[in-house]
Amino acid sequence: MEEMTRRRFLVLAPVALGAIPAVLNGCGGSSGSSVDGTVAVQNGQATLSFSQFPKLGSVGGAAVIEVNSGGSYIVIRTGVSTASALSAVCTHAHCLVGYQAGDGKLICPCHGSEYSTAGTVLRGPAIESLATFPATVDATGITIKIA
Ligand code: FES
Repeated sequence: MEEMTRRRFLVLAPVALGAIPAVLNGCGGSSGSSVDGTVAVQNGQATLSFSQFPKLGSVGGAAVIEVNSGGSYIVIRTGVSTASALSAVCTHAHCLVGYQAGDGKLICPCHGSEYSTAGTVLRGPAIESLATFPATVDATGITIKIA
């Protein structure tokens, strides 16, 4: 095999270094959307108060949460008295999804999967739907039943 000359190295090195970000972006190097807060689970329910998660006070608002018993969820205020709660973990490679209010879709920033607010896959590479959980809205917040 031919030994690499200094000149050949100087030609190839920038090409190789330029490929590193693309590799990191394409292999799940990101964890996806950010978490808005942590919520305690009591009797199988987690309550997201509007004071802790003000985005949920308005229709179209959403929050990604972790619960103290483990797990990540995304809660979306779909109407004045309605909300959706889903697993926030993309079924493709486990990045956290985010909510795009303008399109009414959940988007995974890692590889572009899209889900409806009912959890159905609208666009791959994900194949499996997001798990959904009952959610109720009252005057002070949204309660999700996760157990
Ligand atoms: S982790 Fe790949 S599309 Fe979500």
